[in-house]
Amino acid sequence: MTSEATARGRAADGEPGWKGEPGDTSTLLGRPAVGYLDAAADTLAAVKREILHRLAPEPGRRLLDVGCGNGTDVLELAARVGPSGEVVGVDVNERAIEEARARGTGTGVPASFLTASAYALPFPDDHFDGVRAERMVQHLAEPAGAITELARVTKPGGRVLVADPDHGMWAPDLADRESTRTVLTWWFENIRNPWIGRRLSGLLRAAGLAEVQVKPMPVVLDGIAAADGLTGLSDAIRRAGEVGVLPPERVSALTGDIAEREADGGFLMYGVIILAEGRKEG
Ligand SMILES: C[S@@+](CC[C@H](N)C(=O)[O-])C[C@H]1O[C@@H](n2cnc3c(N)ncnc32)[C@H](O)[C@@H]1O
Repeated sequence: MTSEATARGRAADGEPGWKGEPGDTSTLLGRPAVGYLDAAADTLAAVKREILHRLAPEPGRRLLDVGCGNGTDVLELAARVGPSGEVVGVDVNERAIEEARARGTGTGVPASFLTASAYALPFPDDHFDGVRAERMVQHLAEPAGAITELARVTKPGGRVLVADPDHGMWAPDLADRESTRTVLTWWFENIRNPWIGRRLSGLLRAAGLAEVQVKPMPVVLDGIAAADGLTGLSDAIRRAGEVGVLPPERVSALTGDIAEREADGGFLMYGVIILAEGRKEG
């Protein structure tokens, strides 16, 4: 846990941090990353499908996934590019790469995995037909450097696709607006760049990419289990009470609201993932 996290009361003693920089990416929202990412992949299936469609994984293509986690998207793409193609996944977290390699073993698809950082990709210039990075840039101290690196390894004419949440736009169905704003702002400050979604377009343009487009994609979390699974909402409210960000009566009111909505047929929370795309000129 960093001293900054301690000072801001973000994580209780002994609980891991989850900023996602080298060394602390094995947990996300304080939970083991492997299970977290599998559950998120189900919730975000529409986002993944849209990225896949835009990457156009035709036979023979060479594609890269940066911050590939468990390797789910790499294996899916590799099945489509076929034996004449190639898909590489990189992640800074060695345990993620071990997991991804284990999942790829025996599948027969042209997928490979490497431990590497988005800041220094071990590939020559103009190497890939398309590059994706999903929910990775939100964790980076230097997003601009990483996006320039994604563009560097993309072939002229190739596509760079970057998708991240805008954590300033989560809307849980809760009545107490002030407490809700307080807890959400505090909780998502745990992410290094909570508002990165709205910055992606500017970052892609700054990296020299052309025809930059942005598509906000809705994320609907139907029921508190789905909201907790992706955003840790109940933990956020509980911990906000524990560290004094919210007084106990406000924690009880929010928790009571959630229980009431669930009993009424379902608590709802929604938000947005921003999908930004650009083409490398040349
Ligand atoms: C929220 S996970 C998303 C994983 C995957 N893209 C998916 O959609 O399931 C973010 C991933 O980015 C990785 N990551 C964080 N910083 C990185 C860096 N500097 N270089 C490469 N990967 C990084 C983390 O280890 C983690 O696996």
